[in-house]
Amino acid sequence: MKQVEFRQVSKVFATGRQKIVALRDVSFAVEPGEFWTIVGPSGSGKTTLLRCLAGLERPTSGEILVAGRRVTAPGRDRMMVFQDLDQLFPWRTVLGNILFALRLARPDMGRKECSDLAHSYLQLVGLEDYAHLYPHQLSGGMKQRVAIARALGVQPAVLLMDEPFASLDAITRAGLTAELLNIWSETRVTVIFVTHNIEEALITADHIVVLARGGSVRALLPNNLPRPRQVDDPAFAVARQRLHELLGQAQTLPEGNAAHERGPEAHPLVRPAAGGAHLS
Ligand SMILES: Nc1ncnc2c1ncn2[C@@H]1O[C@H](COP(=O)(O)OP(=O)(O)OP(=O)(O)O)[C@@H](O)[C@H]1O
Ligand SMILES: [Mg+2]
Repeated sequence: MKQVEFRQVSKVFATGRQKIVALRDVSFAVEPGEFWTIVGPSGSGKTTLLRCLAGLERPTSGEILVAGRRVTAPGRDRMMVFQDLDQLFPWRTVLGNILFALRLARPDMGRKECSDLAHSYLQLVGLEDYAHLYPHQLSGGMKQRVAIARALGVQPAVLLMDEPFASLDAITRAGLTAELLNIWSETRVTVIFVTHNIEEALITADHIVVLARGGSVRALLPNNLPRPRQVDDPAFAVARQRLHELLGQAQTLPEGNAAHERGPEAHPLVRPAAGGAHLS
């Protein structure tokens, strides 16, 4: 069974007399444990796509399934991490933030079990020594690690991330991206990750969705670069160039364009070399 399935999802916002098409006929299917990265110009519907999957918005048409069940509301099977560095409760400690989410999501769990779980996720993000600090005593990167631990502590099937590292400096951002990949490979949670950053998309994704202006899918790209991805790999440069071009087209693609009618481009990012550099 697919972990996540978008079936011809459209979302139209009506504001006064104006209608804004945020998503248009979006379809794709994610296997359990995959890492999917959504890229696209500002306003192409990336956040709307995540919010619909989280159950915070309803699609105007089409449907979204998670593990075969239609999404109609938020649920603890889908946890979201935002770009905002202030998404933690400032009056709770690092540990308190994680415990609070856990107790809400898992009222069935005993105190000891909650506490053990919270500590194990703090350890996973490397913050076990900071459990009793408050958010204002943390760096931006540490806050995002707490937000990730808090989301993962609930043990969702799908982790939704909306540009979680966008407000951080480049070095911290690269470090956290690498950490996220380690966490992903340890937990095998399914990740849907939004970024503006081409390299971040290439480093993280099993599959890349390129959204175009107007909310349609410009491309669905299997990312067959071998892991761990190396930015100095010549194949990486080829993939970077191709994604760059697709994003350029996504900026200017007029609605109803012939490319849209043909459906999304779906070739793997890099042609496999003889001998095969394929990810299985
Ligand atoms: N609640 C809303 N009401 C009306 N229009 C909305 C609403 N939310 C989003 N939109 C519109 O939907 C479109 C897609 O917005 P969305 O926030 O999903 O884009 P995005 O790809 O996440 O952009 P960015 O990269 O800037 O974060 C935009 O035109 C936006 O104005
Ligand atoms: Mg957004």
